[in-house]
Amino acid sequence: MADLGVKTQRSLQELGIGDEAGVEALLGELRATLDADLAGVSSAEGLEEFRIRWLGRKQGLLGAANDHWLKSAAGPLKRAVGRLLNELKQHADQSLEARRHAVEHGESDARLAAERLDVTLPGTRRPLGSRHPIQLLIEEIQDIFVSMGYSVADGPEIESDYYNFTALNFPLGHPARDTQDTLFVTAAGDYLLRTHTSTVQIRTMEKQTPPMRAIQCGKVYRRDTPDASHSFMFHQVDGFAVDTHLTLGDLKGTLDHFFKQLFGPRMRTRFRPSFFPFTEPSAEMDMSCLICSGSGCPACKQTGWMEALGCGMIDPGVYGFVNVDPARYSGFAWGMGVDRIAMQYYGIDDIQLLFQGDVRFLKQFR
Ligand code: DAH
Repeated sequence: MADLGVKTQRSLQELGIGDEAGVEALLGELRATLDADLAGVSSAEGLEEFRIRWLGRKQGLLGAANDHWLKSAAGPLKRAVGRLLNELKQHADQSLEARRHAVEHGESDARLAAERLDVTLPGTRRPLGSRHPIQLLIEEIQDIFVSMGYSVADGPEIESDYYNFTALNFPLGHPARDTQDTLFVTAAGDYLLRTHTSTVQIRTMEKQTPPMRAIQCGKVYRRDTPDASHSFMFHQVDGFAVDTHLTLGDLKGTLDHFFKQLFGPRMRTRFRPSFFPFTEPSAEMDMSCLICSGSGCPACKQTGWMEALGCGMIDPGVYGFVNVDPARYSGFAWGMGVDRIAMQYYGIDDIQLLFQGDVRFLKQFR
């Protein structure tokens, strides 16, 4: 081609061409070179280089041939040179376009081949989450109490001293406050992480008038060292009912029914006297140990019973804070630890499993 480059700079006389046959041979050579050159082009850049090399305005080979050969063609040869160069120019344009088409399609074909997507390949499996066993149990508990006519109330986890203590009849400085191992949020101690869900009694009674029945489920916090049965955050369900003529018998019947609903008809309950500032009389309720069915085992310390909750008749002192007339109304309340019940319900021997977020443990509950 270097040779051709030189030739296109020469006149026909210099090339020793004087007849039509010579001209045809010369242009045939030019055309063959052009075809071979184009056949080697396989990219968009190659096409542009080819265009400049052959068809470029300033240094294109066809332009140079036109300049030197047409000008130097004498007499009748001029027509032949003009016609053949024209044909060659057209041929070059058409071949270039055809090649461009092929290259572009070839490039996109190549890209498509490289990006080929096998739609029959199996997809990436996204692991399915599962609901937390505590959440599942709370929903179960809610269903049972809702079926008994209770509504589900909610309250904040950061609570004021008033709702957590004062209005629940814990007088300021009363030693019962110390039993709660409170985590305070403010240095002044007026805000704290609620130590129980009993706050629902005050928050709901403030807003409603008897008859009232509500439960509250949620997280509570206490200063405690974690071990197999203790945690500084755990869950409670508190509930209460206020109406005319409610008695301790209603309380016992309600809770016994609830535990039989949750665990089955063989579940038994028993009540022991206890003390809470917001109930009078107060009791603690035990449920029969499910692990040994009441005959005694290490889990229940051979007693056949497990502590399940605190309860009692609402203390008249509480009614004073929420404008309920204790001469007309009576009520009962209870509060239970969901996590301990969960251990019995699911057969788990370490409460920490409920808080560690280990997927292998959690995915067993769906
Ligand atoms: N709030 C008590 C606690 O966390 C449990 C409790 C006892 C709640 C008696 C009650 C109740 O509503 O009446 O220790």
